[in-house]
Amino acid sequence: MTSIPPYQIVPLAPQHERAGFSCNDENLDNYLKKNISSDVKRNACSAHVLTETGKNEVLGFYTLSPETITFENAPEEIYRMYRKNRIGVVLLGRYAIHSSLQGKGIGKMMLMKIYSDVYKSKNIISSAGIIVDAKTESAKSFWKSREFVKISQDSQESEKFLLPMKYIEKLFNKPAGS
Ligand SMILES: CC(C)(COP(=O)(O)OP(=O)(O)OC[C@H]1O[C@@H](n2cnc3c(N)ncnc32)[C@H](O)[C@@H]1OP(=O)(O)O)[C@@H](O)C(=O)NCCC(=O)NCCS
Repeated sequence: MTSIPPYQIVPLAPQHERAGFSCNDENLDNYLKKNISSDVKRNACSAHVLTETGKNEVLGFYTLSPETITFENAPEEIYRMYRKNRIGVVLLGRYAIHSSLQGKGIGKMMLMKIYSDVYKSKNIISSAGIIVDAKTESAKSFWKSREFVKISQDSQESEKFLLPMKYIEKLFNKPAGS
């Protein structure tokens, strides 16, 4: 369990109240209310929620799952690192903060928890970094602002972005092999 007083980030559990969640993105709201539990049950992803410490109302959530991708359409710097082989990454599939809390730095704190968990897990199963599949202009501009690099444009709406593990390692001051 991670505490960001007065908040905590914990695995999604049956007691968590999801009905009142709204982040101004209907697809994400509906996913949390209707689909997330079945995805967790069939091990398609892990899901974490942000609540006030000791409370159950969901104020933020995210999902993580393993994914493999190729880097054929990535920028030269990234392509040179991974070339055409399929490479393992962590997919940050969904990520949202309740609209009443947006713009207060909570999303940034939730990201730090994700970076820390991905960094710790690399000693067991490593990956090239974290990818996101951004489908709205707002999401695209958010991931760019977090230094994610665009690696492919799958359709007009959908663009994939990568935060390389090297960036995460720098945050925790330990480059690979050191
Ligand atoms: C994206 C989201 C999770 C950010 O959470 P938040 O708590 O509002 O973010 P924070 O207050 O921690 O802000 C983090 C930083 O990102 C910036 N930011 C926030 N939303 C942004 C956007 N749409 N575009 C560009 N930058 C953005 C903030 O200005 C802040 O910058 P700073 O580091 O210079 O202070 C939240 O706005 C949200 O849930 N949006 C709807 C769902 C969504 O788009 N999810 C992402 C795609 S799955």
